[in-house]
Amino acid sequence: MTAEIINGRIMAERVREEVRLGVDKLRAAAGIVPSLAVVMVGNDPASDVYVRTKERAARAVGIETRTERLGADVTEEQVVDLVERLNEDRTAHGVLVQLPLPTHVNSLTVSSAVDPEKDVDGLHPDNAGLLLFGAPRFVPCTPAGIQRMLAESGITTDGKRIVICGRSMIVGRPLAALMMQKSSGANATVTVAHTGTRDLPELTRQADIVVAAIDKPRGIRADMVKPGAVVIDVGIHRQEDDSSEKGYRLVGDVDFEGVKERASLISPAPGGVGPMTVAMLLVNTLKAATMAADKEKLAEVMNAASRVTTGV
Ligand code: GUN
Repeated sequence: MTAEIINGRIMAERVREEVRLGVDKLRAAAGIVPSLAVVMVGNDPASDVYVRTKERAARAVGIETRTERLGADVTEEQVVDLVERLNEDRTAHGVLVQLPLPTHVNSLTVSSAVDPEKDVDGLHPDNAGLLLFGAPRFVPCTPAGIQRMLAESGITTDGKRIVICGRSMIVGRPLAALMMQKSSGANATVTVAHTGTRDLPELTRQADIVVAAIDKPRGIRADMVKPGAVVIDVGIHRQEDDSSEKGYRLVGDVDFEGVKERASLISPAPGGVGPMTVAMLLVNTLKAATMAADKEKLAEVMNAASRVTTGV
C-alpha cells in the first residue's frame, strides 16, 4: 500500500483564507484590527525562522504583528515584566512567547504570566485546565492543527486508537486532552508514549493513528506502523546531505520513505503539521481579538446602563 499524502500547505491556505475573512468582518463590525505580540528570547536560529514565518503569515491575513526581542542573558523577571506590559497593552490582542526559552528562564513561570485571555498558544495553566475540562478557550496550535488536518482528510477519530509519541507541553499532552474529549473530531482512545515507554513498536503497531512528536529524526519506522494506519509527523530536523544543493535536507520524526509504503495516509515534514500550526495561531489570534471586542462592547453597554441608573 502506498499512502495518500496530506498536503498541509494547501489545508493551511484554506484556514488562512477563513481567518482573512474573519479579520475583515471584525474590522467592519467593530473597527478592530487583530494584533499579535511575539516575545523572542535569545537568538536560536530555528526559533528565528519560526517567528518570521508567524509574522509573515499574520500580516498576509491582515493581523498586525510585532516581535519584542530580548537577549539570551535577560533574567526571568525581565521576561515576565515584558509579558505583563503586553498584557496591559490594549493594542496587543494575542501574546505568544516563543519556545524554547534559555534554561535559566522557567517556562511555567512565563506561560503563567501571560493574560489567559491573550494566551494564543494555549499554554497558560488556566487554558490547559479548561481543555482538560472539555471547555477549551485556546487550544495549543499544533494539537489544533492536527485535529483539523485529520478532519479535513476525512479521518474519523471516534473510537479509534491513537498513540501519541511524546509528552511535551505544546504537543503530546494537550493533543491527548483534545483527542479524548467527548466531542466530534475527538472521542478517541488515547495512549501517550514517552521516553519511559517499554517496547514502543509493539504499542504503535496497535494504533489506527500514530502521532510522532519524539524529537528524533526518522525515529518512527515502517515496522512500527500497522498496515493502513494514519501517520502524523510533528518533527522537523535539519540533516546534513552533501547530495543536496543546500548541503542539508529537512526530515521529520517519521521515516517517510519507508512508512509511506505501509500507511494509508501520512502527513509529510516539511509541508504537513508546520503550516497548520501557524494557521491555527492565526485562528487563535482572531479569537482573542473577537473576545476583546465583545468585552469592549459589554463595557460600553454597562457604562450606558450605569448612566441611566445614576443619571451621570
Ligand atoms: N516553539 C516551537 N513550537 C512552538 C509553538 O507552537 N509555540 C511556541 N510559543 N513556541 C514554539
